[in-house]
This record gives sequence, structure tokens and C-alpha cells, in this order.
Amino acid sequence: MNALSQEKINEIRNSVNIVDVISSYIPLTPKGKNYFGVCPFHDDNNPSMSVSPSKQIYKCFSCGATGTVFKFIMDYENVSFMEAVKKVADMGGITVNIGKVHKKREFPALREIYDLSLKFYINNLNTSAGKEAKEYLNSRNINENVIKEFQIGLALKKDVLSKILIKKFKPEDVLKSGLVGKNDRGYYDLFYERIMFPLYDLEGNPVAYSGRIYNRQDNSKYFNTRETEIFKKGELIYNYHRAKDESRRKNQVIVMEGFMDVIRAYTVGIKNVIATMGTAVTDIQAHLIKRMAKEIILCFDGDEAGAKATMACSNELIKIGVTPKVIRLEDNLDPDEYIQKYGKEAFERKINNPISVMDFKLSYLKSGKDLNSNVDKAQYINELIAELNKIDDDILKELTIKKVATELDIDDNLIRRHLDKKEVKQIKKNIQPIITTKYEKAESSLVYYMLKSPEVISMYNNKVTYIPTKEYRLLAREISAFYKHFGFINEADFIDYIECEPELMATINKVNKNNSKETYTLEEIEDYIDVIKDYNIQEEIKRLTNKMKDLTDPLDKAKIAEEIVGLKKECKYV
Ligand code: UTP
Ligand code: MN
Repeated sequence: MNALSQEKINEIRNSVNIVDVISSYIPLTPKGKNYFGVCPFHDDNNPSMSVSPSKQIYKCFSCGATGTVFKFIMDYENVSFMEAVKKVADMGGITVNIGKVHKKREFPALREIYDLSLKFYINNLNTSAGKEAKEYLNSRNINENVIKEFQIGLALKKDVLSKILIKKFKPEDVLKSGLVGKNDRGYYDLFYERIMFPLYDLEGNPVAYSGRIYNRQDNSKYFNTRETEIFKKGELIYNYHRAKDESRRKNQVIVMEGFMDVIRAYTVGIKNVIATMGTAVTDIQAHLIKRMAKEIILCFDGDEAGAKATMACSNELIKIGVTPKVIRLEDNLDPDEYIQKYGKEAFERKINNPISVMDFKLSYLKSGKDLNSNVDKAQYINELIAELNKIDDDILKELTIKKVATELDIDDNLIRRHLDKKEVKQIKKNIQPIITTKYEKAESSLVYYMLKSPEVISMYNNKVTYIPTKEYRLLAREISAFYKHFGFINEADFIDYIECEPELMATINKVNKNNSKETYTLEEIEDYIDVIKDYNIQEEIKRLTNKMKDLTDPLDKAKIAEEIVGLKKECKYV
């Protein structure tokens, strides 16, 4: 149950204007009585999201995303319903006391294991056995405050943690945690003699570790927890939870490769920094980064591998319509080393003067080529054309073409002729399937108008006994229950009432995507109801037909056949 009453939630929602809130995330332009912007919830460049000040909801005509100000913040910032409510209350100047917002924790045993292991590792570092590790950290200019902030700990001798865990938790959970292994001699620690850097999920809970060697030789400098039920590498970003508010404020986020780099930048006061952790950026991570801020700056290691990673990451971002900027560091330095060598101000000058992603790509493609040779030159131009075809940013494209044409002394139309014709980008992912059958169309339209009109809810209550498709059935029931309780219906209040429950929200999105007309006629509603009735009859006929197949007695068979004939007569359309 909610910590806040429906009235309070209403008050909070009414304390802000959805247009103001959403326009602090994405640019909106007024058009008629609504506002329009590019929907952040699917890959698009067209302003398909409308925000209605009168209804206080937003709706995307392309992907169907819809909701109130709370839902927008939930999805944009990846927070729970209650956290979103709290944020809006802050914006509206309303004091609410909902304490610490706790999400329902999935896999509680694993999470407890991580909470406990974190305390254990932190404690180790503070014991006398942790002296060498402390010295190592201090030698890298990582002081007590940083150790505290980033909850850095230490795994010491083998098998101490496993003994503690196995006493407290079920063996299968302990093994699932990725911290403990088992062989014929029993349970053993997977991490030992490593400085432990906790990795967090998007909400800031510890869900894994990266352990660094500090006093011995080992093939791997860092050893990371394997993937578990609570740790999916490709879905996390290092430092996301600490960096997201600052990134929003600055409207800028700096992406690095390693968490040591992030820790360094954060320590000197540059807090809008995250890390990809040395692996290729996934589509999920790219979307998370996209939503953190408008200006995205890639600042990977200064070496060849860093340049390659910059290429890969920028391409992943470009795919979803983001044009990042790039910083390259000299002398193969990584950001950690650079900041320590040249200081915070020098690094800030770098941040303030990033190069465009195309300038970066030009120099990347150029390296190792001899542009006096026509073979290399042709290859360079072809590679460049391939890169130009990837980006959406027309201005940057044009500037790059001009620049290269001058530089290589070729006709810029030569490049332009080779560019793909711009096609209207079709939206691919995150999109619910289009409704195909007339039955589902009727169900979806009925529910759509139920969300708008008490009259339609009454018709549903009086005339519809059963909606065959589960998702519409559940939604219709909730709408009917809401109306019974409050005596009115409006989409914004309803969405808050169901607390943006994901499955119901998905159905609402689908319903909105497949219907657009604001008004209806009674005949239309009657028609939907008749189609739904037919649907039920068809389902019953199917059931009887199957049943008949199993029967042997001709009399029983005849009886059912008769029933089917009767049902068929009842059908209006079939
Ligand atoms: P780097 O080798 O650039 O690490 O790897 P770093 O940040 O400079 O670390 P220090 O300064 O040597 O301590 C970047 C990222 O790649 C992953 C880690 O997540 C690291 O943050 N990595 C690197 C591993 O997972 N295993 C390794 O053996 C090395
Ligand atoms: Mn380093």
C-alpha cells in the first residue's frame, strides 16, 4: 500500500504543470492547445510526443508511451513511482514524509549477501591486515574520504567470507552470489587479496565487485563478479546513481572507460562522470546515457584501445540519434593519470573544448594512411562516407563535408553524391505490435473510451460480461473499480491510482497507440460490445468443437452440434 493518500498524490501532481516539468527534460514547442517534443522513450527525431496542459498527461503518437508527470520521471530517470512522487513534491514545494523510498527488492537473499559482504570488505581494509592495501591506495592519491565515498574494501585471505556467508544463508543463494565457489573440499572465496570496488545497480545498491590486485602478480589486474540475477553487466553504468542529478543540472555527462578514472574525476569535484567499465557499450547502456543529459562527452583512455572504444561507443550512441562529443588525451594517458599529472583545471579546459565526433572520426580514419597515395585517399573518402551516412546531424554533416573537401582538394559534391538518400526513419524497437484482429480492435477501443467517459464505463458494466483478452480485461476491471470508488474518470488520476503498474501501463500505451479519435458515437460503442460478444461466442464454439472431437456417443455429439448451431445464430457478424 501507498505511503501517501490518493488526495495527497493528487495535490502533488497539481502543484506543478506537466509542461514545465517535461520541458525541463526535453524541448517542447506549443502547437494549438498542446505542446510537442521528440519522444525520449523510443528512437526518433520527429516531435511525436504531445503534452496536454489541460489533461496533465503526455502521449506519444508513435510508440504509445503515455502517463502523468510521475510516469514521465519514472521512465526518464529510472526511479520508482514513490521516488517520482517525491521529486515532483520537491518541485512543487510540497513537503511529504515518505521516509526512505524502498523499492520492492527482488532476490532479497542475494542483496543481503551483498550488503553484508560490503560491510565485511570495508572492515577488512581498516584492520592491521589492510595496511598494505591502504598504502597502495594512498600511493595512488586515494584518501580516506574517497575510500568512504566509494565504499572501497578489501578481500584478504581465502575462504573467510564464504564461512560467514554459509552460516547465514542458504548454500544455493551463497553460490548464486558470485562471491563463493565450491569444490570437493568445500566452499571457497572467489576474491582474495584484492582491493574491492563495489559496483552498483542504477539505484545505488551494491550488486557486484571489481577486485584489483595490489601486492602480487596475477594475470588479471581486475577480477570482476560474474553475472548474477542482480548483476547484468550490459545494463549497468558505473557511478550512474551518483552522477545522474549533477549531469541533469549541467545537462552534460562525461563517459570514461574505467571506474578509477571516474573516482579520480569525482574526487576533484567533477561529478557528472560515469564509466562503461572497459566493455563495449550495449544498446541499453546507450539509452541510459542518452537520458542523462543532452551533451554527452566521451573521454576514454588516450591510447589506441581508447580510440577504438571511442569509435565503438560513439557509433552505439549515433544509432539512437545522439551525437556525442569527444576528448582525446595526449601521451596515452587515461583520465586518472591526466588529472593527476596536469591538474583539475587542465582537465576542465579539455571538457570545455571537446572535438566533434566527426573530427574525431576523421583523424581516426586518417591515422596510418598516406593521403598522398591515391589508394589510401580513396579508402579514406569511402570510409568517411560510411561514417557520414550514420549521423543524423545535418549541420555537422555539412561542415564535415566542406572541411574534408577543402583538405583533400576535391569537389564536395563528389562526397554528397555518395551519401545515402535520407529516408524517413522507421521506428523499430520498443513498439508494441499493431492490433490485427477486429476482436482485439473492439476490445482496445472499448477500453480506450472507458478511460474517457463514465457513459462507456456504464455500458461496459451493464452489457459486457467478459472481455476475452486478459490484458484488456484487467484494465477494464481497474477502470470500472476506479469509477465505482471515485465517481469520475480521468486518465491522469487513473494512472496515478494504479501507480503506473507496468503491465496495466503497457496496455494503456497499446490502447492509446491504436486509437486516436477523441469522440465516439453510441453506435460505435454498441458495435464494439457486439464484436466482443461475438468473440466470446466464437471462443465457446471453439471449445465445444474440441469437446465434440473427444466424444464417441453420437447422441452427445448431436447435442453439442445443436448447441453450436444455436450459438452461431447468436452471432451478429460471423
Ligand atoms: P584500465 O586498464 O584502463 O583500468 O581498464 P584503469 O582504470 O586504468 O585502472 P588502474 O588505473 O590500472 O587501476 C578499464 C576498465 O576495464 C576493466 C575495468 O572495469 C577497468 O575499470 N578491466 C580492466 C577489467 O575488468 N579487467 C582488467 O584486467 C582490466
Ligand atoms: Mn589507470
